[in-house]
Order: sequence, then structure tokens, then C-alpha cells
Amino acid sequence: LAILKNINFKIFEGDKILITGKSGIGKSTLFKSLLNELPLIKGKILVDNQLNKSNFLSNFGIVGQDTYIFAESLRFNLTLGKDIPSSQLIKVLKKVKLEYLANKKHLDTPIGEKGLSLSGGEKRKVEIARALLNKKEFLLVDEGLSGLDDDSRKQVFSLLQSLPQTIIEIEHTMSIEDKQKFNQVVNLVAK
Ligand SMILES: Nc1ncnc2c1ncn2[C@@H]1O[C@H](COP(=O)(O)OP(=O)(O)OP(=O)(O)O)[C@@H](O)[C@H]1O
Ligand SMILES: [Mg+2]
Repeated sequence: LAILKNINFKIFEGDKILITGKSGIGKSTLFKSLLNELPLIKGKILVDNQLNKSNFLSNFGIVGQDTYIFAESLRFNLTLGKDIPSSQLIKVLKKVKLEYLANKKHLDTPIGEKGLSLSGGEKRKVEIARALLNKKEFLLVDEGLSGLDDDSRKQVFSLLQSLPQTIIEIEHTMSIEDKQKFNQVVNLVAK
């Protein structure tokens, strides 16, 4: 049984794409297909007009509602164990507007109970920082703004819009004004 049918759109480098559609329509499923977690019954995902560019999958960074934050140091959450100099980590933390965490003490503080507690917005920013550090070319954002208060929402939204990366973003609510900031809005509807 197909969850999604007749989806056809093109994404160009650096594009900011918004995916909308009601709950259960298949937005997150579209991401799973892109990430090769779900097979396609029919159709193709073409990259540079050819299938399966070898390093395609490793180019995705994910910012989600179920954030991938580990009960480990902030450093680990950014690098996932890769050897990256602190100066670079500090630089990227400043870039994602987490200046107050951009120091060695905070880098080595564990996140979670008894450690550094991060709000929803801060966790999204850490995920964005991780994607930037790992030089991801694409960001898949699945409801990255939901659950945030107006200020953090604005901050995370404009941070995402300001990045040179190609961004595919799923959101439920978006003002008409903000929608216009995307290169393309793909609205999924039931057939
Ligand atoms: N692996 C799977 N196998 C079968 N059905 C699935 C699978 N994953 C999701 N579904 C079904 O596909 C439909 C679309 O789910 P999906 O999570 O993509 O919706 P969504 O548009 O992201 O919704 P929401 O806005 O609530 O997050 C749902 O009916 C869901 O139960
Ligand atoms: Mg979803």
C-alpha cells in the first residue's frame, strides 16, 4: 500500500523547501524515503539526474521533533566522537546563537540530569550546529519549530533560512509571510 503517490518536485542547491500537509498525510514518510529507510514502490529519487550518488545519504543532517540529543557532553553531542578542535566547536556554537555555551567548561558538561539542561529550542540549535560541523549539505527539518515559544521559533527559523545549505523543512504552522521566504512550498494532499 502506497502512503504517498504522485509526488514530483525538484530541489536545487541551496533551496529552502517547505513541506506542508495534514497530520498523517505522509510528510515524515517522505523524509524516510529520502533517507532510504523506506523503499519506494514506484518512482525514483534522482540526484544530479542520476540515481544513488554514492555519498548522497551521508550528506543529510537531521533536525527533528524527537531530537537526537545524548546524555553525554555537549562536545560529544556536537562531534559524535569525531576529533574536532574546540575552537571550531566554539565558532559554530556562536553561529547558532548559543554564545553562552561557547566555552570549554560548557563543552565538557554532560547534557541532561545533573548536567546542562537544554530547552527544546537549544536542542534544535545543537542539532543544527552538529549538521554544520559535520559539513552536511542538506538539512531535513521535521517540525523543527513546533513546541518552541515565539522568540525561539523566530530564532531557529531565521537561523535555518540564513544557512547556505539546502533545507527541506516540514512544518504545521507557518505564517503567509514566512511561507514566502521559501523557494518552494510542497503541499501534500490526500487523493
Ligand atoms: N513504515 C511504515 N509502514 C507502514 N505505514 C507507515 C510507516 N510509517 C508511517 N506509516 C503510516 O503512514 C502514514 C503517514 O505517516 P507520516 O508519519 O509520514 O505522517 P506525517 O504527515 O508526518 O504526520 P504528522 O504531521 O502527524 O507528523 C500514517 O498513516 C502512518 O501510520
Ligand atoms: Mg511527521
